[in-house]
Amino acid sequence: MISLAKDNIKHAKAGSVSLAKRTMKVPAVEYTDERKWLLEKEKIFRRLPLLVAMSCELPEAQSYLCTEVASVPIIITRDENFELHAMLNSCGHRGAQLLEPGCGKIKKLTCPYHAWRYALDGSLANVFANDIFGEIDKSKHGLIRLPVYENAGLIWVNTDPNSQLNISDYLCGYDTLLQHFNLREFRIFDRRSLEGPNWKIAYDGYLDLYHLPILHKKTFGSDIPYKSLAYSWGPHTRVTSPDPDYAKESFNTSPESFDVESLTTGVWTIFPHVSIASFDAGCRGILISQLFPGSTVSESITIQTYMIPRKLELDEREEAQAMFDLLETVVAEEDYRTGMKQQAALKTGLRNEIIFGKNEEGCQTFHKWLNKVLETSNEELPALFQSAIRCAV
Ligand code: FES
Ligand SMILES: [Fe+2]
Repeated sequence: MISLAKDNIKHAKAGSVSLAKRTMKVPAVEYTDERKWLLEKEKIFRRLPLLVAMSCELPEAQSYLCTEVASVPIIITRDENFELHAMLNSCGHRGAQLLEPGCGKIKKLTCPYHAWRYALDGSLANVFANDIFGEIDKSKHGLIRLPVYENAGLIWVNTDPNSQLNISDYLCGYDTLLQHFNLREFRIFDRRSLEGPNWKIAYDGYLDLYHLPILHKKTFGSDIPYKSLAYSWGPHTRVTSPDPDYAKESFNTSPESFDVESLTTGVWTIFPHVSIASFDAGCRGILISQLFPGSTVSESITIQTYMIPRKLELDEREEAQAMFDLLETVVAEEDYRTGMKQQAALKTGLRNEIIFGKNEEGCQTFHKWLNKVLETSNEELPALFQSAIRCAV
């Protein structure tokens, strides 16, 4: 984190930015072709670890969270030993869903259909009226377990139960940097979902700063920096801008003494679908946006979660609420409204391609990795990310 801060100071003083080697063209059908979109749902969203929950949603031993991710109903539990488990929300008997979406405390998972009961690790503990059901091997009829990983106050689940991809490898060390947000100590202030355009059109908007003083001039103002420094760990990218304060004569602070706010500026994206950014309003709030494909190629859903570090006083709450409301306006009325019209224009088929500038390196990295993953077989997926770790080191 300190070397990243040093790099920022270097660029701020020199008035320079980091740029991609060249511009990059992307065929317009990438955003409109239904077959490509179906492939992305299968090979990206059903095969890679996704950020599905915050650790604070399962704060205690014997707690659970039930949700749906990429159309897969899942349950996450924290057992009596504080160990985390993820499972398909589907009973080993006839497949019914055991829990309704939500979170809370729980000791056992009981199916509402015929009362089969499971321990928090998903193993089958009891079959109702076992004497008349017939012989079964309980060890073979537990819940389907899914790979799960927790770090930096965040929880990832892979909805492919047979995945060979180690989630820590997948994150390429990026999660270690995310620890500096200290999300483990945060709580959820508020959450909402927004409808948007094709998920990649929506996601591109989190990866470029180029549009900030233009599209968001009414909300963020026209002075907001648009020049970027992009850093990548495998497919995961942080985009920030050289801080103009570092260029001032009077600036002589050592990066070693920087506070966490200064170290974590900018937008931190977690491939393929998450953006994290912090805001100052009443307290330091952190907005986590999780994007998912919607019900057609032209639609997406974004879950916005606003997190705060502690219980807030009334005036702080009002400021935080005003910021969260502003962020809804920024994303829904500015980013996604523009994205939906962009989507409609591309859907005409009259434009063959779009182009990313050298200053839109974050978008370039995203599209390169997306294609790389789509082309990689299940067997080769672990090696793809292991080699990315070697590059990151
Ligand atoms: S489907 Fe769950 S007990 Fe029958
Ligand atoms: Fe934006």
